[in-house]
Amino acid sequence: MSTEVIKVTINGKEFEVPKGARLIDVCREKAFDIPSFCYYSDLALQASCRMCLVRIEKMPKLQTSCTITCTDGMIVTTQSDEIEKAQRSMLEFLLANHPLDCPVCDRGGECELQEMTFDWGGLEERFTEKKNYYPERYLSPIVANDPQRCILCKRCTRVCDEWMGEDAIEAGGRGANTVIGTYGGWLDCSQCGNCIEVCPTGTLLDGTYRHQARPWELAQTITTCSFCSDGCQMSLGSRGGEVMRAVARDRYVNGINGEFLCIKGRFAHPFVNHEDRIRTPLIRYKKDGKLIPATWDEAIKHVARRLDEIVDANGRNSLAVIGSPRITNEANYVLHKFATELVGTENYGATDAFSLRPFFDNLTAPLATHRDIRYAKTILLIGGEPEELQPLTGRQIRQAVRNGAAKLIVVNSRKIRLVEQALQFVHIRPGSEDAFVLALADNGTDSTATSKLGVEGADLEAVRQTISETQGDFVIMFGGELSGAAQAVIAALAPSLRADGRRVLLHPLPIYNNSLGVHDMGLMNGPHSIEQMLDGAGESIRAMYIAGRFLPQHLRGREDALSKLDFLVVQELFETDTTAFADVVLPAASFAEVDGTFTNNDGFVQRVRQSIPPVHQAKADWMITAQLATELQMDFGFEMSSSAVFREISESIPAYSGMRYPLLKDETNPVQARYAVAEKRDVSEALNSLRQTVETLPSEGDKLAVTPDVGHELFKIGTLTDKVPQFHLLAAGNPRPETVRVSPLYQITVDAELRNGVVVSGD
Ligand code: SF4
Ligand code: SF4
Ligand code: SF4
Ligand code: FES
Repeated sequence: MSTEVIKVTINGKEFEVPKGARLIDVCREKAFDIPSFCYYSDLALQASCRMCLVRIEKMPKLQTSCTITCTDGMIVTTQSDEIEKAQRSMLEFLLANHPLDCPVCDRGGECELQEMTFDWGGLEERFTEKKNYYPERYLSPIVANDPQRCILCKRCTRVCDEWMGEDAIEAGGRGANTVIGTYGGWLDCSQCGNCIEVCPTGTLLDGTYRHQARPWELAQTITTCSFCSDGCQMSLGSRGGEVMRAVARDRYVNGINGEFLCIKGRFAHPFVNHEDRIRTPLIRYKKDGKLIPATWDEAIKHVARRLDEIVDANGRNSLAVIGSPRITNEANYVLHKFATELVGTENYGATDAFSLRPFFDNLTAPLATHRDIRYAKTILLIGGEPEELQPLTGRQIRQAVRNGAAKLIVVNSRKIRLVEQALQFVHIRPGSEDAFVLALADNGTDSTATSKLGVEGADLEAVRQTISETQGDFVIMFGGELSGAAQAVIAALAPSLRADGRRVLLHPLPIYNNSLGVHDMGLMNGPHSIEQMLDGAGESIRAMYIAGRFLPQHLRGREDALSKLDFLVVQELFETDTTAFADVVLPAASFAEVDGTFTNNDGFVQRVRQSIPPVHQAKADWMITAQLATELQMDFGFEMSSSAVFREISESIPAYSGMRYPLLKDETNPVQARYAVAEKRDVSEALNSLRQTVETLPSEGDKLAVTPDVGHELFKIGTLTDKVPQFHLLAAGNPRPETVRVSPLYQITVDAELRNGVVVSGD
């Protein structure tokens, strides 16, 4: 939008507004209420509901304020008998075919149509004709549909198209018989549920929560999603100690994601109250024996005694302490403190997919926020697959291109779905991402790089051309394919890519919800990798204390090494392939049961808030570690308060300096960690190492031609999604049931052949 300011008069008051501002936004910002159904900020205009009517001087009839851009001297009236009469008539038409079944509608109590009728509608219904009738149905295992409640605002179809790039639902039929439907009668999409969220009525419904509760029965707690590194803000609705639903509805929460959530954030929460949660501490008194329920007192004393004995007999480094990118900053900080201050072991780490240490050690530009991505002019995506692994980032990229005319350059070994939005797709050989980074850092290496990447020199030139033409923000993103040396080089590239009018921003794409946090808390800074620790199991390493399970692919299948240990303690929600080897299992509380913080891929430190009391005898991870420390004669002094842990974090970790929980309370203004950014970095060593790595890459080999299926990562069954039957249906190919009139869960035995028993991802 232009920075030029113009004057408009609304209801007799004069305001200065930016030239080109949309009238409906200006009126609302200046606190003049304008009703609307079809207008949705940052989506293409629909202009069909005609609720947003205003009178503009010198214009012959009432105007829809969602379609009007402000011009200098415009005189606007938002309230008058004439306008109100027109709005009442529009509502009357909308209700002509709408069933008045609010008492049995899941949306009743938070329905925009219901509210608008109370605020703007007539109380009498004059249409006496028979209403259209369509039976209720399911569109997928997750999306339920009551077509007759639709007011054809088409927010759902626009969101599906513009946010998700999927175009999976569309309006079919004509005139009064138009209904929203699917292609082929069954939704084959990423099942994000965003169409449900933005639907202003009870037409599209959450099939997992249907008829379970009324909105006013739920306590709403604003918290941070516990799946990917995007850190979406959500409201968990709970009743009687049970999490009933997750929404991003902006009447409850208004974070970086607006009303966006993906399938995991929105629908995977039933793991929290699942019957398989570990109920009490468990002790295996002899190897190959059974895990026996114990009290917390017994378990903590037992663990403290055994760790003491092992460290006394074998030295401090014989104990390895392993944190997790899934748990809070507070939990990882206390584990790091336990490892370094209490035990004094060099063997500590975290089970993340890759370390971001080389990147953060060499930063020359700030991290891009999701808002920066949305308004970027050029985005370079090297590796990664945000649409499956960081879906909010995927949406921001898509909207930057579709609604902001950004130029997207995708460098990937696969034709990921975002390629459809890309101006340039550099299709490279699998595993050659480092060669692209080398070419970006040193164009004298183009001939080596092109032979390793399997592309033409002109492809690299075209990328450089797009970057050099960029005016505005240039965002570089990268996935886990880059080596440490390539990460360091990318982090240090900004000074050579910056120019007048061009800002360079960086956006790493780690996998887990607290990948950045576990890095910041120091757990990734140890001298040994988890693989090295597993190699030492049963030899130099005699005991391990692990939070969670081994998540990433590279550690899978390594659990056997755990059987060689003298003693293994695991904090977990469920029994897993890691607890199978544990001598003691301590029941940990989930994200819904604890207070704390996660740090997302923007570097935003966001609050995790307790929505329900810990289930069974679970305890917050940090509390378990602190209790164990007390038993080992070191009082960490946190006095049962996660805010005390966070205070210590802010005092000892420079990037978090000065932060306190009250400063983080407003999710609409998230606080970014202050990572050290230097004007220039000397990465000559990393560059040499990168050159050597690239030399060893093959100069031939086939490229991957297939576009990965929607959901190939999102629907993978992990420890948590394993507890949600709908995910099993999706992982089994989302079969269309015989009838769509009742929930697909009733028709398909998810426990039998469709149940995917193998836990294949880390979630
Ligand atoms: S669930 Fe998501 S992808 Fe599927 S139709 Fe709705 S908005 Fe589109
Ligand atoms: S289903 Fe909901 S969002 Fe879609 S057009 Fe109908 S009322 Fe609007
Ligand atoms: S995009 Fe990531 S943070 Fe957002 S809801 Fe999905 S998993 Fe959660
Ligand atoms: S909000 Fe303007 S026409 Fe619907």
